[in-house]
Amino acid sequence: MELTAYENQMLEGAHGPAPRFAMEVLVKLGQIYGADRMVEVASAQIMAHYGSLHDAGLELAEKFVALGGRFIIPTTEDPLSICERHWRDIGIAEEYAAKQERLRQAVLTLGAQPVWTCTPYFAGNLPRFGQNVSWAESSAVSFANSVLGARTNRTPAGLNYCAALTGRMPRMGLYRPENRRGQVLVRVEAGELSSLDYNTLGLIIGKSVGNRVPVVEGLPDSAGVDDLKYLGAAAASSGVVALYHAPGLTPEAMAGDPFGGEEPLERLRVGRDELTAMRREMNTASGEAELGVVGCPHYSVPEMQQLAGLLKGQRLKPGRELWVYTSPTVYELAQGMGCVADITSSGARIMDGNCLIISPLGKTPFRTIITDSAKAAYYLPSEHEVQMIYAETAELVSALVGE
Ligand code: F3S
Repeated sequence: MELTAYENQMLEGAHGPAPRFAMEVLVKLGQIYGADRMVEVASAQIMAHYGSLHDAGLELAEKFVALGGRFIIPTTEDPLSICERHWRDIGIAEEYAAKQERLRQAVLTLGAQPVWTCTPYFAGNLPRFGQNVSWAESSAVSFANSVLGARTNRTPAGLNYCAALTGRMPRMGLYRPENRRGQVLVRVEAGELSSLDYNTLGLIIGKSVGNRVPVVEGLPDSAGVDDLKYLGAAAASSGVVALYHAPGLTPEAMAGDPFGGEEPLERLRVGRDELTAMRREMNTASGEAELGVVGCPHYSVPEMQQLAGLLKGQRLKPGRELWVYTSPTVYELAQGMGCVADITSSGARIMDGNCLIISPLGKTPFRTIITDSAKAAYYLPSEHEVQMIYAETAELVSALVGE
């Protein structure tokens, strides 16, 4: 691999032991994947949730701290595994919480911005079109690549720490323009789409295209940022889709032919029947919902407003819970707007800064869960042995409130 003088200095230890260790890892990775050189990355989105990094991730983060490492590019943080406000009341073990706290402290010492969210683009980490970044968490990666037109691979946790310490990643995968071309044409013929439809469409696309790049035609002009967020999150869950193009909506598809002058390798049509069938498939529960979960990916300010409107003046049924996942940044804004009060006075809890799927949900008594998120509906049954009801947000609220 060809390295710049600065990259060679890091590799030789001129900038300290932490960047040297990180560069050694990145150079080896680049050699394995045949990268010709490094790219400079403008920001990192890294993971610090103990629920998926476990002891190995904790050791790595603490090793970088012991080596005196500092993140040299703006680095934001994925959600934690537990909610600092509520972990005690929902039965999380002290030992688990203590390890999560050590991991949290380690990344703060390294210089991470404590946004604790999978939607860092709503919390100040907003790369521009064409900019290289190094992000982790599949929904955030999809959003960065597809909706913002930035460039990142689905960077594994440890490698992302290396990127944040050096500002570099090997030029491979989606950093190379030729790997960003569309491969599968998906024609959507289903008229106006609800929020749940975008989620469901993402599931269908992910299952059909795997790790290829879909070009999604026929999305209505009314598609909003949250709709595109859900589409990408779902496609990255049921498949390994890290980038999609949507002509008329996403920037790379508007800058030129998303297929780069080539014919699609495959064509796929999705109509109302396919959306209905997939929605049915995601419903695995036979009983009534005990727990509702929303905010996967984390709820935005408009979603908090919508939920507050649905819950205002209502109370959850006895024995029912509703957990709302969002970022601390959005929480603050929603609090200032009065949405937090409208949501919590119903009995719902706002779990800001953490994530249900990587939490120890299996330790709680809830076994039938209702959600408005395809990603949650897709992962929760396998991660936590629960049954799912998959529904629009308004249906979810109706199922949980009342006498
Ligand atoms: Fe975010 Fe956790 Fe869902 S990281 S996308 S809330 S699985």
